[in-house]
Amino acid sequence: MSSVTVRVPAKVNVQLSVGPLREDGYHDLVNVFHAVSIFDEVVAKESESITVQVNGKWSDQVPTDDSNLAIRAARALAKHAGRTYGAELIIQKGIPVAGGMAGGSADAAGALVACNELWGLGLPFDDLMEIAGDLGSDVPFSLLGGTAVGTGRGEQLSELPTGGTFHWVFALANGGLSTASVYAECDRLREASGAHVPWPQLNDSLMEALGTGDAYALGSHLSNDLQSATLNLRPELAPTLDSGRQHGALGAIVSGSGPTCAFLAIDPTHARDLAHSLTTTGAAHTAVAAHGPVHGATLI
Ligand code: C5P
Repeated sequence: MSSVTVRVPAKVNVQLSVGPLREDGYHDLVNVFHAVSIFDEVVAKESESITVQVNGKWSDQVPTDDSNLAIRAARALAKHAGRTYGAELIIQKGIPVAGGMAGGSADAAGALVACNELWGLGLPFDDLMEIAGDLGSDVPFSLLGGTAVGTGRGEQLSELPTGGTFHWVFALANGGLSTASVYAECDRLREASGAHVPWPQLNDSLMEALGTGDAYALGSHLSNDLQSATLNLRPELAPTLDSGRQHGALGAIVSGSGPTCAFLAIDPTHARDLAHSLTTTGAAHTAVAAHGPVHGATLI
């Protein structure tokens, strides 16, 4: 095998409940992930050493040094296998960079699946999931895909069956946000308000909406505890969310730590119309229609 290609989806969080700050700097979460049809592609080719090249619209914002998550994933896999391997990783970005849609995690998950195949390791999925959890809180979900509840840092996953396909529009913002800075802003706002931070709980009504495929109910139960922090850092997103609601979105929410905004639509036609309205009114410079759930990292 001289070249392997893996396709990995973006995610939106339909519930993101953030518990108190832990001693290790993370937060315990109830994080309901949902994989959507916006993809990165990771190609792994035979090579002497592990390198990465990033192509696509936002590629100049992705580091290609040792901090690149796909390089770290390939190295972690080689270490797990106990040997020195090489791979030339070529990433085609379709997922916004630092957009709250797990683009970096997708590339790490893609590198794990691609190198497992390229190097003929044949490691089982559970081993890849374990390595993924050490690389980042969202990497296991990028491997798994579908819809799943993440607890702990978000890396402990339980799959959720969904009763149908949901249709979304994503409004892309200029420039990304660092996840750590949004969590830090969330902590700052909570400290300033002095309010008690409850232990995160799964929303049963949201579970039911996912299970029955009821987009109207799902739209009314979308929630994101990071949203006020993101809006504090990027106030210009509030009118974008309002505009989506005015154009009939069933729910409008910041995706993860943002700054991408997610809008739940009624059906594919409504998603297309909503995307068109968001861009023609100037509420968003780019709006992309997508559906979910979709598979996690997949060899193609
Ligand atoms: O796990 P990952 O490296 O993706 O997390 C990035 C940052 O997001 C962490 O350094 C931390 O600041 C924040 N985070 C958090 N609690 C989580 C997940 C992430 O505070 N459960």
